[in-house]
Amino acid sequence: MQIDKKYNSQYKTKVEISDAFDFNIDVKKDSRFFIITDSNVANLYLQEVLAKVSSKGQAEFIIIDASEKSKSWETIGKIIDEIISFDPKRSDYIIGLGGGVITDIVGFVASIINRGTRLILIPTTLLSMIDSAIGGKNGINYNNFKNKIGTIYPANNVIIATSMLKSLTEAQILEGVCEAIKIAICRDINFCKFLQNKKYDILNLDFKLIRKLITKAIKLKNQVVGKDLLDSNQRMILNFGHTIGHAIESYEENKIPHGIAVGMGMYIETDLLHKLGLSSKKTSSAIKSLLEAYDVPEYLGNLDNIIEIAVKSDKKRAENNTINLVVPNKLGEALIKKIDVSKIKNVSFES
Ligand SMILES: NC(=O)c1ccc[n+]([C@@H]2O[C@H](COP(=O)([O-])OP(=O)(O)OC[C@H]3O[C@@H](n4cnc5c(N)ncnc54)[C@H](O)[C@@H]3O)[C@@H](O)[C@H]2O)c1
Repeated sequence: MQIDKKYNSQYKTKVEISDAFDFNIDVKKDSRFFIITDSNVANLYLQEVLAKVSSKGQAEFIIIDASEKSKSWETIGKIIDEIISFDPKRSDYIIGLGGGVITDIVGFVASIINRGTRLILIPTTLLSMIDSAIGGKNGINYNNFKNKIGTIYPANNVIIATSMLKSLTEAQILEGVCEAIKIAICRDINFCKFLQNKKYDILNLDFKLIRKLITKAIKLKNQVVGKDLLDSNQRMILNFGHTIGHAIESYEENKIPHGIAVGMGMYIETDLLHKLGLSSKKTSSAIKSLLEAYDVPEYLGNLDNIIEIAVKSDKKRAENNTINLVVPNKLGEALIKKIDVSKIKNVSFES
């Protein structure tokens, strides 16, 4: 039975990137739209989106708290209660308008209502445009474990309007850049060079370059996801910085934003791999130089706690007391290696 092939052919998200928001999707007559957004994004963009969507059919909206804490059963329950009260059909559309918290929550909701309702994502942070809206992963946190519950349910459409980035701070743009750095390190040396050379223009939102960045990052992610939608092997390559990054987020109770935690995770994983003899001095320095170019901060807390959480959360995915780590061989190329937990715990980070 060729299940893999069947799933791969299901990865057919249509991504549109433009400067201003437009809603050109062909929808059936009498379609209904359920827009879910957070309180910050609602103040900025809900009216604009509502006006365009309402021209195609009846539109309802739900506003949730703008917080990582919203990735919870409680919020999912409230959203589902509200949508079900309208007796939704599978052919209706659930729309997520917001950053990664919204795309994660809304993707999950759409995947379970009627066992799958049409999903449109309108990402509004750089991180969600290049990462969380792409590839179908969604989820909520459970008992302080990141993304423990979720499904893989790619959106039918992702609509990106780069003008929505104008209301983000430079620090928030950097969070997205960290995910772009991650994919560049693992997949494309030229993208690394682009990021290294264009820092000033990217952080100052030169829209021509931002568009280039978004298009490239999505293309690279799609190449990986297209081969392994269900995250059984190759897709793990996208986890560079995340094993440690997720542990930092959990330990710091989400006070450090996801993108920055991933940046901090890349520093630590780079050191760890070098100390384990799996990565050369040249590669480690090149990775750090890219992170330093953007002044990505280093994590200053106790690394023993972080390593302990990282190992505990990841161990279940691997076997025989090992965890999978992404090992960049050189800038632009990486592979996945199973590493003994005991070896990781023995590494000393004192320099
Ligand atoms: N599923 C995936 O593949 C995937 C990938 C990466 C990250 N994630 C998840 O994404 C989440 C982080 O996403 P994020 O960084 O977008 O954070 P976020 O969704 O929390 O948004 C950050 C803040 O920016 C505000 N905001 C959003 N868009 C804005 C805009 N255009 N202007 C002004 N303010 C705006 C939000 O209200 C929020 O306060 C984490 O939960 C992470 O686990 C998921």
